[in-house]
Amino acid sequence: MKPGRPLAPEGAAGIAALGHRAYVGGHWDEIGKLQFDFLVREGLKPHHYLLDIACGSLRAGSHFVPYLDAAHYLGIEKESDLVRAGLEKELDQETIERKQPQFVISSSFEFSKFSERADFVLAQSLFTHLPPAMIEDCFAKLRRFMREDGAFYATFNEVQTEVSNPDTPHDHGIFWYTRDRMSRFGTDNGWKSEYIGDWGHPRHQKMMQYRPA
Ligand SMILES: C[S@@+](CC[C@H](N)C(=O)[O-])C[C@H]1O[C@@H](n2cnc3c(N)ncnc32)[C@H](O)[C@@H]1O
Repeated sequence: MKPGRPLAPEGAAGIAALGHRAYVGGHWDEIGKLQFDFLVREGLKPHHYLLDIACGSLRAGSHFVPYLDAAHYLGIEKESDLVRAGLEKELDQETIERKQPQFVISSSFEFSKFSERADFVLAQSLFTHLPPAMIEDCFAKLRRFMREDGAFYATFNEVQTEVSNPDTPHDHGIFWYTRDRMSRFGTDNGWKSEYIGDWGHPRHQKMMQYRPA
């Protein structure tokens, strides 16, 4: 994080001030479609279960929900106001009723609250805002929830040498990790990891892929 620069407020106050699209970082159409096209290229089919960790206001979910079979989109998010805004403003009622997206509001990675386990998992611009201990917790809990033949994709801000990140998360703070550190978050928690790197993100976030080891 850059020192001395005040960050926008988090939570309900921040969402009210910034709006549900800007709160998750803007580039709404581009980053939403980027996520959808990426996972379809990786093999996502309508019959798969997709877990969208930190689904926010459905920037990507507004593409995935219409594509996937009913109840196969699983979104977990800590801010209920974002999910509400996504459902009210980014999807039409008919699609919601037909596709029955499933949501858990939680900041502690309570994946076991979903009744189905995931084939594909995406964490787009989540680890860019979290300290190491929370990322470890996410990997450990996700390992137990994941289907054995599934794949987990996570984006991160890459730095060449390790930096000291803050101990507490912030939705508008930027956290940096090396490729090696991202790999070890996985391998320390029962995953194989592979660096994908550039995937066309406009802010140059890089992509990792993890599979159960
Ligand atoms: C930059 S936004 C990205 C949202 C979404 N993935 C997208 O691409 O539009 C980061 C999101 O992470 C959510 N978040 C942060 N910490 C979280 C946690 N511990 N559990 C669930 N969601 C979290 C924030 O509320 C926010 O919606």
